[in-house]
Parts: sequence; structure tokens; C-alpha cells
Amino acid sequence: MTAPLAAATATAHANIALVKYWGKRDADLMLPATSSLSLTLSTFDTTTRVELAPAGGSGEVTATLDGAPLTGPALAKVQRFVDLVRTRDDVEGDLAGRGARVTSVNTVPTGAGLASSASGFAALAGATAAAYGLDLAPRDLSRLARRGSGSASRSVHGGFVVWHAGDLADPVRGDLTSFAEPVPAAADLDVAMAVVVLDAGPKSIGSREAMARTVATSPYFPAWVEHTEVDVAQARDAIAAGDLAQLGEIAEASAMRMHATMLAARPAVRYLAPASLGVLDAVAGLRASGTGAWATMDAGPNVKVLCARVDLDAVVAALEVGGDGGRRRVLRALPGPGLAVTRG
Ligand code: DP6
Repeated sequence: MTAPLAAATATAHANIALVKYWGKRDADLMLPATSSLSLTLSTFDTTTRVELAPAGGSGEVTATLDGAPLTGPALAKVQRFVDLVRTRDDVEGDLAGRGARVTSVNTVPTGAGLASSASGFAALAGATAAAYGLDLAPRDLSRLARRGSGSASRSVHGGFVVWHAGDLADPVRGDLTSFAEPVPAAADLDVAMAVVVLDAGPKSIGSREAMARTVATSPYFPAWVEHTEVDVAQARDAIAAGDLAQLGEIAEASAMRMHATMLAARPAVRYLAPASLGVLDAVAGLRASGTGAWATMDAGPNVKVLCARVDLDAVVAALEVGGDGGRRRVLRALPGPGLAVTRG
């Protein structure tokens, strides 16, 4: 008799770091050089279903993303992740040898350059763990998601989230202590994010390689590490106090410092595009005219703008009009929920 099909479905949302993660201290265990702090968004989510093959099969893992089969390095990444789960000591004997079919769907607007490894690996972690019979606490799900992509550790939780660097002295203790958890926020801290989608142009270097190059060659990297821990502590205080202006200033400074650190790598890593600078000017203009708005940028040209929820319409309207009178594409996001997993 064949064992019943084990399956689970999980949904996770993208997160945007307000204090950035840039650099690993251990690439195998995916341990970050610093702690970081993010906001999980209400949009840009990934839903992933993992169905186990019957026992006695080849054990193969196949995967599709938005209906297309994954191949090459993208498939290998998913297969390595599923192996990480099914070879755990706490997976029951018969399940460990079973293959899996992974079906993933992103609800990211097409061509927006916003597809997120954070939502992707958080959803994969939730669905794979459940399909292979594990019942992991949020902390352990976050540690697992971290092994797929560092920022995915943060998408396990909703709202404001801190990802701890963990114990720096020893990798085994580091692995146990580097997880994300929610940050308590003042009840009246009501934030939103405007996402300005800019033309990505020719594809630049991926974030994983860019990070490694920055760690290896940027003379500014030690200063980045030192200041980031201070930024995380101050951002947590600002969130607890409901001080959006303080949080926004820390967030914009962290993003600029991250880009400065990678610009100092050799060869330089540059994600800032001319159009990005135009948006940074527009955000500064909003502030000069009295609207609280603060910019952050990741490994691409898009600019995300943190503001109060009541100001979102005004911020979007201002950013939609480009300096040359052209229109920019601006998406809206609010704080979103953490990982949701359904078995069966
Ligand atoms: C710029 O989490 O995508 O978005 O851990 O190598 O998978 P890996 O990198 P990833 O890097 C995210 C970097 C960032 C900043 C951030 O999200 O904190």
C-alpha cells in the first residue's frame, strides 16, 4: 500500500529592510555579519505548495515557478533546500527518502524587478517543513528560511521584524541564535511604503556575489558592520516610541551607507541608476515641503519610500510625476502578515 500523499501550502510576503543586511560571516550557514531590521509588506507575496511523491520512488525534487519548470542553478537551489529539510534528524524515516513536487507562484507585478527571494524561501521553508512532517516553532522556521536566503528569515514574521546576527563567537551557537522575531511597535505607528518601479536596464551583479565581493574588498566594510548594530538598536527604540521621523532617518542612512560600502568594493558594485537619484531628490523635496518620507534601496534601481499611512496618497502622487514631467510607476504597500502554512 502506498503511503498517503503528504502536502502543504505556505504563503509569505516580501520584506524591505530598514536597517540593511549586507555581508555574511559564514556563507555555508548563511550567518550575517550584522543584525538587520525590516518591514514585511502586504503585497508581493509567494505561495508555494510542496507535495511529496509516494515512498519507493526516485526521490527526485522538481519545481515550477509561475507555471514554468525550474532548471539549472535555480532548481539546484530549491533541491539543496529540500535536502536540508528531509535529511534532518527529526524527519521520520520513510519521509526522508521521498521526492517532492514544488509549485510556486509569485504575485509580483510583471517586469517590476521586485521578485523576492525573501518571500520565496520563507514560503518554501514553511511548506517543505510541513510536508515532511515537521512542526517547527517560528524561531526554527526563521532559522530554516535563513538557509535559503538571509532576508527570508525576516519574512516568517509580519510587521516590523529584527533578524539577530546571533552568537558571533562560534558557528554552531551562531546557527542556533541567528533568527528573526517581531519588534514590538507603538500602537499609533501607522506606516506605509510607496515602491517606485524603475527600468532595471541591463542586469547587474546578483546580491549574493555582490555581498561577498563587498566583504572581501571594501575598506568601508568594518565601519558598516560597526554602525549597523547601532542602527538596529536605535531603530528598535524608534519603533517602540512610535517615532517615524527617527525611524525614517535611520532607514535612509542605512540604505545610503550600504550603497556607499558596495561602491567602495573592487570592482565597484553599483545598483543606483540615474533615475534612482531623481527619486531620491523627489523624496528630499517631499521632506523639504513638510511631508515625512524616507527612501531606501536594495540590490536594484527601485526606490522604496517609507511614510505615514495618512501621507501615502500625497507621497504616491508626488513621486508619480518625474522631474522631466514623465510618469513613474509607483506601487502601494502597507505592513503585511507573517508566514501562513496549511497542511494537506
Ligand atoms: C539588499 O537575502 O537576497 O535586500 O542571503 O545571499 O540570499 P542572500 O541575500 P538576500 O540579500 C538581501 C540584501 C538586501 C538588504 C536586505 O534585505 O536586508
